[in-house]
Amino acid sequence: MLLVFAIVLVHKNYFFFFFAVMMKHLYCTAGAGMEELLAEEVQHKLCATQVEQISGRVFFCSNADLYTVTQLKSAERLFLLLRKTEPISLPNNPAKAAAVIKQGVVGDLDIWKQTLLTWTALQEELQCSQQRGHKRRREEDEEESLTVADESTHTPTSSTDLLKRQNEINKESHEQTPSFRVSCRCSGVIARSYTSQRLGRIIGMAIKEHLGWKVDLKEPVLEVNVYLSDDHCVVGIPLLKHPLASRSYMKHNGLRSTIAWAMTSLCPKQLNDCVILDPMCGVGAVLLEAAQEYSNAVFLGMDTDTSQLQKAAENLKASGMEGRVQLLRSSAMEIPLADGAVDAVLCDVPFGRKFSCSSDMPTALPRLLREMERVIRVGGHLVLLLSLQLSAQLKKTICTHKNNQHLNSSDTNNVHTDPSNTQNESKDTPKTLTFHKSSSETSNTPLLFSSLQAQRTHRVSLGSTDAFIHIYTKIQTQAHSH
Ligand SMILES: C[S@@+](CC[C@H](N)C(=O)[O-])C[C@H]1O[C@@H](n2cnc3c(N)ncnc32)[C@H](O)[C@@H]1O
Repeated sequence: MLLVFAIVLVHKNYFFFFFAVMMKHLYCTAGAGMEELLAEEVQHKLCATQVEQISGRVFFCSNADLYTVTQLKSAERLFLLLRKTEPISLPNNPAKAAAVIKQGVVGDLDIWKQTLLTWTALQEELQCSQQRGHKRRREEDEEESLTVADESTHTPTSSTDLLKRQNEINKESHEQTPSFRVSCRCSGVIARSYTSQRLGRIIGMAIKEHLGWKVDLKEPVLEVNVYLSDDHCVVGIPLLKHPLASRSYMKHNGLRSTIAWAMTSLCPKQLNDCVILDPMCGVGAVLLEAAQEYSNAVFLGMDTDTSQLQKAAENLKASGMEGRVQLLRSSAMEIPLADGAVDAVLCDVPFGRKFSCSSDMPTALPRLLREMERVIRVGGHLVLLLSLQLSAQLKKTICTHKNNQHLNSSDTNNVHTDPSNTQNESKDTPKTLTFHKSSSETSNTPLLFSSLQAQRTHRVSLGSTDAFIHIYTKIQTQAHSH
């Protein structure tokens, strides 16, 4: 499955570990709707091969170093793949079920032993890159405070700790008897006869019996993750304790970071050297994901809520990005910027009870869009995260306009996109989107957004509910050329 060579060089007080990693079989879990983006991300960033996506999981092979793998933005959790086979069907009789599990889930014992060695080597690799990161940060801090570095104060500690930890891991791995617990998820036919907990217990007993590993439900060295569905039987071991999706610098949580990253990555053009605005930035999740992706761009975040802006400032500080993102208290209904001032607007439009809104969002949506469209330059992009309800509101608004079109023949050139009429994703030929004043507005004159071309709509899960990411590009219209 994987070949790892670890060479230790001892130089003064430093220990250097070089890992020539040949190939790893890995998989990541992903939120619903994120699988395709994750598959693209592993191909693009890790040059991964054998990429295969199923619902909630993406499998791949990569020889990228583990630190690079941990920088994936669209994944939830990262696993070393132990086994991926055809689905198993379990008899109701527990004794017979245990025999099927031994065969179908545990399988070849040598693979478990090899995987344990690989996992151990990857933990060492991870440990080394963390130590190097800590050392680098400490050196940067010391340089910043202009203190004179005293070599003896920092190098021996890191190398001693490192060695101690490696000895512990190596001991367990060479003995091949790590402590473990099973975490199991099942769905489909199996789930009708067995709960995940019950299956987890049966699988745990089988591993204990056949591999001699020790069960420890509280603080195991290894977690064995099993996923059984009508289509798959997947066994893996998490490589990290924390999900990849939880960003350590987010002192205050806002939009799920994977979704915030998706908003950035779905933008049709690279945004380096651009001005990017989030006019309803909240605690800054979208800005932070975008700022990491585009190191040369300039970012501006606005919000009407001072406490949200304060949290955004704290998140920016924790991530070290405070110099790159300007925050401003302002309403998205009246953006204090000139026409065409920004290259892209990324906006997670509020809905539900979590965020306070000064106005009723479905009613305010046309005005909000008009203001965002105004500040985007021709050729720039608009990326919106809208609830299903707001997406439907968009549709309703367009329909209103469609009806009015029969009365107003001057608009016959406009083609209308139905943004909520998508199952998961659509890459239709760009169509022109036209909005109309909401019913609360007095005049019946159409609010034209003929300059916004719908590029793509992507459905994602926000946990308890789904939402659409809508992507538009602003094109030249007669109104702009005059
Ligand atoms: C869905 S939240 C944004 C969440 C954000 N993506 C995050 O990660 O925190 C929407 C934000 O819009 C702000 N908001 C509501 N009405 C606004 C308006 N008229 N102008 C600007 N911001 C507004 C709210 O205070 C809230 O912080």
